[in-house]
Amino acid sequence: MKNLENGLQTATPVTPVTIVSPHQWPDWEAGQDARLRRWAGLHDFSAKRGHSLVIPSPEGGVERVVVGVEEDANAIWDLAGLPGKLPDGVYALDPAEGMSPDLAGAVCLGWALGGYRYDTYKADDAAVPVLVWPDGVDQAEVTALYQGISLARDLITTPANDMGPAEITGAAQKIADQFKAQMRVLTGEELLQANYPAIYQVGAGSARQPRLIDLTWGDQAAKKVTLVGKGVVFDTGGYDLKPSSAMRLMKKDMGGAAITLGLASVLMAMKLPIRLRLLIPAVENSVSGTAMRPGDVIRTRAGKTVEVGNTDAEGRLILADALTEAAAEAPDLLVDVATLTGAARVALGLGVPALFSNDDALAGKLQQMSHHIGDPLWQLPLWRDYGEQIKSKIADLSNNPSEPFGGAITAALFLEHFIGDVRSWVHIDVMAYNRSSAPGRPEGGEAQGLRALYAHIKDCYGS
Ligand code: BES
Ligand code: MN
Ligand code: ZN
Repeated sequence: MKNLENGLQTATPVTPVTIVSPHQWPDWEAGQDARLRRWAGLHDFSAKRGHSLVIPSPEGGVERVVVGVEEDANAIWDLAGLPGKLPDGVYALDPAEGMSPDLAGAVCLGWALGGYRYDTYKADDAAVPVLVWPDGVDQAEVTALYQGISLARDLITTPANDMGPAEITGAAQKIADQFKAQMRVLTGEELLQANYPAIYQVGAGSARQPRLIDLTWGDQAAKKVTLVGKGVVFDTGGYDLKPSSAMRLMKKDMGGAAITLGLASVLMAMKLPIRLRLLIPAVENSVSGTAMRPGDVIRTRAGKTVEVGNTDAEGRLILADALTEAAAEAPDLLVDVATLTGAARVALGLGVPALFSNDDALAGKLQQMSHHIGDPLWQLPLWRDYGEQIKSKIADLSNNPSEPFGGAITAALFLEHFIGDVRSWVHIDVMAYNRSSAPGRPEGGEAQGLRALYAHIKDCYGS
């Protein structure tokens, strides 16, 4: 029996995985035989969410597995610990009937993500236990989400020596080929000729040439959804060099690019009836004789000049040009995802990306959806008074706010200068990384916001 890549399959024979909620537990346990009740007591098991109990068979194998699941937004993670814990084999949910398709889909994705490993540099031959698809689950959607999330995680976790602008371009090309999307790439000097001066300048300090990746897919006449992802392959800070502790994780500064590419792959795999566009400015923020300097004034595609008060505020510079390009064709929805500020992490911690929008109804809807499916986002205000803090004495804007406080907001306000007349713009400031492991979410890159954005786009433009 061949295991599918995502740890789920369609055939039998199987070991039952019995799903019980903590609330159902006392009644459920009371209906079991003395052997099981004694075993559960020995293990202090009461079906707390994500906790599991292996019931041995008389022969010393696994007779069944009991696991605590609560049917809410976090159900996705309740089975995620099992693939790493159970012996190799084939498992099936019990009872499979009576479960809502949404819950079944969520726990299947959690099971699949529980088997996710980043094994590029270190072989991991451990066999992953397989779960039989429960009835009613949208197998194509669970598979697309698993693949999109894995892609984003792999790209983020891959170190910068093997994930430069060229490699991100290669990854995007692979996805474009897979879904027969159009792809155009501008490289190095071509960015200057085609008037993307800010992307060019931020990348000018690296031996690896900057790029603008531009992927389009779908029916020209359909609603236009445009994604923009920050693709800084490594952020040293530039001349405003980061201290080593802050630089250590900066391979993940292309997290926005990885998440939007993963999301694009899901939207295309599910054939959503949209005209999709994905723009990724991919650069390395390095220190060298050709790098931008503190105090430089650079031009942007929009014609606005920006004083580089801090070379470490590079993300907003490359996003400025990409957003201008995106806005030019007036998309119905414009979403950018970026590891833009440390301030967003100070405000909300590592697990909750900050959400900004020029449309509060849109932000509210997306935030609500994000909580409903357990991929949380939290809205912060585009507090217009703070616009004063990104003025420059000698240029149209400064990339370095005059106040150190509210940095996620001033960064978002900076971006807002470049969205033209777009009425439905969403900016998500993400961590894109798990600093420690949880079931289904190992230390390494994380596709924060991907499921929330997919669910929202499907909801708005799905049919
Ligand atoms: N990539 C960083 C932001 C970042 C840091 C995200 C740590 C997640 C974790 C970004 O390019 C940056 O350096 N931002 C500066 C902006 C400041 C110089 C105005 C920051 O947040 O300190
Ligand atoms: Mn930076
Ligand atoms: Zn950065």
